[in-house]
Amino acid sequence: MEKIQYNLLKREKPVKLPADLGFGKIFTDHVFEMDYSSEKGWHNPIIKKLENIPMHPASMYLHYGQGVFDGLKAFKTESDEIVLFRPQKHIQRINNSSKKLCIPNVDTEFLLQALIELVSIERDWIPAKAGESLYIRPFIYGSEPFIGVRPSAFYKLMIILSPVGAYYPEGFKPVKILVQDDYVRAVRKGLGDCKTPANYAASLYAGEDAKKKGFTQVLWLDGVEQKYIEEVGTMNIFINFKNEVATPKLNGSILPGVTRDSVIQILKDWNINVTERQISIDEVIDEYKKGNVTGVFGTGTAAIISPVGWLTFKGLEMNFNNGQPGELDIKLFEELTSLHYGKIEDKHDWIVHVEKKEIEV
Ligand code: COI
Repeated sequence: MEKIQYNLLKREKPVKLPADLGFGKIFTDHVFEMDYSSEKGWHNPIIKKLENIPMHPASMYLHYGQGVFDGLKAFKTESDEIVLFRPQKHIQRINNSSKKLCIPNVDTEFLLQALIELVSIERDWIPAKAGESLYIRPFIYGSEPFIGVRPSAFYKLMIILSPVGAYYPEGFKPVKILVQDDYVRAVRKGLGDCKTPANYAASLYAGEDAKKKGFTQVLWLDGVEQKYIEEVGTMNIFINFKNEVATPKLNGSILPGVTRDSVIQILKDWNINVTERQISIDEVIDEYKKGNVTGVFGTGTAAIISPVGWLTFKGLEMNFNNGQPGELDIKLFEELTSLHYGKIEDKHDWIVHVEKKEIEV
């Protein structure tokens, strides 16, 4: 792989972050990008000023949605170190997502290096307050101008960075979720397990409908029988049954969440009975009625842990913990954020340190 080129801005003023970051509204000064062609493979890696992308109106991505993305985070620890949480797993997921989209793989080591360098250059943009972080969004799209349907011959990979606070306006307060059976997000053997724009486009109509009815998000049922719970679209879901914490098993239509995987490992470390299996919505309702559901929570990079206070299906509202975060939700949130901010031992080697890099401009 070629060496990364730099075309950096001279920063005149120190970076000043607003008090309320929100999520995904602010972007740092620089981006990483590189191009792909079948002759040259991935080439032209560069870190440069963030600006609009010149795009041919026939770019294949615009018409046929051939793209993938991922989302991970960098944190500033109490000792002012910069760390990334499980970046290798996210980068591997980009390649996994790319496979079904016919997008060429990237060299995972090289992409990790590019990501580290970009984050290091933009370190002044990383917020230090608890609950805040730098969201890293790598993405790839088919850039060939062509109207026929086939995989693009050219691609662009970019990484953009956004200082963020909580994903949901509720913060860590429990969210209200509507179990959706009027629409489906994905079907097994389709694209549901890929982080690709199509899945998010497929979720918009139902999501807006749910919002109008006062819900924060939708819990999707499987696309075949609409019987089994799958995921929320921006997070995976866990049901805390009395003697078991269960999450839907990865069946090809559910996104393999990195936070989902981390939570499963943490629960195992705590000797909590955690299972990955099919969970029907009827089972959740039956167990709830018997008083056997002690909580429901979502997991995701953006959301971290999001307690679910209310789950509504066909007019039946299930309420957990009187609209307060459950004990397990709080414990998991504290464990994950303590790991993020370097407050506890990193037993599973999930943390990657970002060294300071000074580049002449
Ligand atoms: C994430 O949790 O990183 C996501 O991608 C969810 C959403 C912002 C699309």
